[in-house]
Amino acid sequence: MQPRAEDRDFSAYNAAQHGRTVRPLAVRAVTAHRASGATSGTAVDLGAGAGIEALYLAEVGYHVHAYDVDASQRDALDALRDHGAGVTARLGRLEEAGALPDADIVLSCATLSFLTPPAFTAVWSQLRACLQPGGVVAVDLFGERDDWAAGTDGSFFSQDEIDGLVDGLEVLEREEREHDGRSFGGPKHWHVTEVIARRPVQDARSAADGSAG
Ligand SMILES: C[S@@+](CC[C@H](N)C(=O)[O-])C[C@H]1O[C@@H](n2cnc3c(N)ncnc32)[C@H](O)[C@@H]1O
Repeated sequence: MQPRAEDRDFSAYNAAQHGRTVRPLAVRAVTAHRASGATSGTAVDLGAGAGIEALYLAEVGYHVHAYDVDASQRDALDALRDHGAGVTARLGRLEEAGALPDADIVLSCATLSFLTPPAFTAVWSQLRACLQPGGVVAVDLFGERDDWAAGTDGSFFSQDEIDGLVDGLEVLEREEREHDGRSFGGPKHWHVTEVIARRPVQDARSAADGSAG
């Protein structure tokens, strides 16, 4: 892994993703959102890569905004535009994207920890702001014992810090995993926490009736 965010190039990684199955985190995000009876909505995929999860979300009925900085995947993402409810590709750095569309699902697989801490903070703030009442966020975040925590400028989190990130959300699933395995570049010690959380529907009522909670 390149030490600095600005030097990382995921084009080879993303090219190798075509043809793989949809990540379970995406499927579980949809299941979580649908548990309340919803069947469609707007989804945001942060770090969409080759667009496999974006296509899945579109095919199951969401309008998808797929964000990534990897220009090599532009054609692949643009080709998804006509699928299902539609995929809008947004090429560029997440931390420079500004406000995100109002979202019922925010998905980010294997991406947010590649952001520098200031970039992560900016993107997480936009993520929390775009999440609609009843909306679901599904992300994975690298922990402090991940191999890449030493020597790269990414964002790595303690469990206490993750508590802070999801403050005010209903945590539906949270799993911390640690194992020796492989990355695209070779052997690696992984330390990852997956979180699926929902913004309470009650948030909307509080805003609508002016109550302070
Ligand atoms: C490990 S890949 C994961 C891609 C996809 N979500 C998947 O699960 O296959 C990380 C992705 O994040 C994107 N990425 C990394 N830093 C980014 C940034 N600052 N802004 C936008 N995309 C970024 C990369 O281009 C890459 O596609």
